Amino acid sequence: MSVDLEKILRPVESPMVPYEPKYMLLASGEAAVVRQVERDEIPDLLKYVEPLLHVERDYYDVVASRVYAELLGHYQYRFQDQYVLAVQIDGELAAIVNGRQVNPKLGLSLHTLAFRRGLRVGAHAFAAKMEYHIDALGHDEVLVVAESPIGFRRWMIEYKLEKRFDTPHELGGVPSWALTRELFDRARSSLVVGRRPVPPELLDKAMEAILPPSDPPTPALDPLAATRSMYDPTATALVSQRWEMEGRTDDA
Ligand SMILES: CC(C)(COP(=O)(O)OP(=O)(O)OC[C@H]1O[C@@H](n2cnc3c(N)ncnc32)[C@H](O)[C@@H]1OP(=O)(O)O)[C@@H](O)C(=O)NCCC(=O)NCCS
Repeated sequence: MSVDLEKILRPVESPMVPYEPKYMLLASGEAAVVRQVERDEIPDLLKYVEPLLHVERDYYDVVASRVYAELLGHYQYRFQDQYVLAVQIDGELAAIVNGRQVNPKLGLSLHTLAFRRGLRVGAHAFAAKMEYHIDALGHDEVLVVAESPIGFRRWMIEYKLEKRFDTPHELGGVPSWALTRELFDRARSSLVVGRRPVPPELLDKAMEAILPPSDPPTPALDPLAATRSMYDPTATALVSQRWEMEGRTDDA
């Protein structure tokens, strides 16, 4: 009985060609590998997404909560035709992007989440997923939305996306924007970087394990510091609270 019900609950997946990995040099001089994440690796991503649920800055909380739900849904076979790509620097997780195929001609961008800031890894990850939709899956266009001002700048403005405001996007039903094949072709020379094939030593390192991000966004320390300090002129309570938040157990 339960086996039969699982057959109904689990969507039938459409065939989708795999993403061919690529690599690029970042502004820091480090090499980054973009590659597909297999379903059995999803728990490795979840543990690094979860702490971002508590980071309000730049809408990390909204985006991370949605990514967490999408990845978990994908892992447990409750999501239709989702793919997940990761950007890794020396094995370390630097960005996650995901999306899905709506039909053989239409793609849908879900999310982009950067774990390392200031290197445009998020922008490169987004470009990689658009490349996957247009070049590999053969979609004519991809529906996109932005949940943050940085996202809006990166996608709507940099790619000059077209409005598809009569089409509600799956993310919250908000009006969609579209990246068409023509827009993507125009962006190729400036926004889409990376080379193939990935040198074996770089690819092996990326495939070996998804290592924890070394400098992920974190919640602001002491959000109520100003208020508390009014009642604590020597700042003793403030300092001990900060140590507690940092996980330090030693005292002065
Ligand atoms: C949107 C996002 C993927 C873009 O990633 P990215 O291309 O690697 O860019 P960064 O986030 O590192 O940098 C964005 C801007 O903030 C600046 N910045 C750099 N380091 C920063 C830091 N430590 N903290 C805040 N901003 C920083 C950058 O200089 C950059 O400015 P620019 O647009 O003038 O170049 C990333 O900001 C992110 O994951 N945001 C939270 C989730 C989100 O909004 N996703 C997109 C949903 S539409």
